[in-house]
Amino acid sequence: MLPAAVLSPFPLFLSFSCMFIQSFFFLGSREVAFVYAISSAGVVYTLARACSQGELDNCSCDPTKTGSSEDSKGSFNWGGCSDHVEHAIHFSQIFVDAKERKERDAQALMNLHNNRAGRKAVKRFMTLQCKCHGVSGSCTVRTCWQAMADFRRTGDHLRKRYNGAVQVTVNQYGTGFTATHTHFKRPSKNDLVYLEDSPDYCIRDPQSGSMGTGGRLCNRTSRGMDGCEVMCCGRGYDTARVSRTTKCECKFHWCCAVHCQDCQQLVDEYTCKSQT
Ligand SMILES: *[C@@H]1O[C@H](CO)[C@@H](O)[C@H](O)[C@H]1NC(C)=O
Ligand SMILES: *[C@@H]1O[C@H](CO)[C@@H](O)[C@H](O)[C@H]1NC(C)=O
Repeated sequence: MLPAAVLSPFPLFLSFSCMFIQSFFFLGSREVAFVYAISSAGVVYTLARACSQGELDNCSCDPTKTGSSEDSKGSFNWGGCSDHVEHAIHFSQIFVDAKERKERDAQALMNLHNNRAGRKAVKRFMTLQCKCHGVSGSCTVRTCWQAMADFRRTGDHLRKRYNGAVQVTVNQYGTGFTATHTHFKRPSKNDLVYLEDSPDYCIRDPQSGSMGTGGRLCNRTSRGMDGCEVMCCGRGYDTARVSRTTKCECKFHWCCAVHCQDCQQLVDEYTCKSQT
């Protein structure tokens, strides 16, 4: 069993993702693949960060990053605190994968694969950060450490993997996948995989867990996913003029406060029509 101190940063995060996952009925879908990947990436990131910041008893900075090493710019000394991502990956795997390791069905294989892809995504964006020493920053001596990139990099990367996710079928031995459609490449360890097509998210269908987009706020001028055209799936939208209270005429007072007035503003809101 894991010590409670190790788990303490996560319950909120885990219960959030569990809630989120439970609201999907299509557990084999591409969206669920993404949720598993980004959740397990989040656990690795949080754990490695907490270790580097000394918030947990049983872990620390990467102990292998000592002495000197070399990169394309020459040699440097390891210093500061390198995020111990290997350890975070190894450790988070034990409890994030626990439920899936008990089962051996297609769903469990899918989840395990996407969990691992998420963890690998964090490692992918580790960068070497350095500080220069020497006469007026001449950089004759460098101290470097391995640091994780901002979590957004991992998120953006997984979002792309979501777009390129591969639909798979479990092979006859139940040990791995083959691409369902023969014109697709075999999924690599970095790809997200899913088993079944997503429900039509445009249409409300409690059976499949789709909420539909009827009643959702949309943006009339956007051409993207939040735009009325895409979000309302061609059903059109309603326009309502609503009154909004905003902060306005803010003045800075020395020192240091900002006082604002409440202003009423009329704005147009657009909501998708429901299917009839
Ligand atoms: C915690 O640290 C101790 C001593 O270094 C070690 O023996 C133990 O295995 C560690 N526990 C975990 C869960 O890593
Ligand atoms: C709507 O979309 C446009 C174009 O993408 C953007 O400039 C604008 O800020 C958006 N409006 C709101 C309220 O989000």
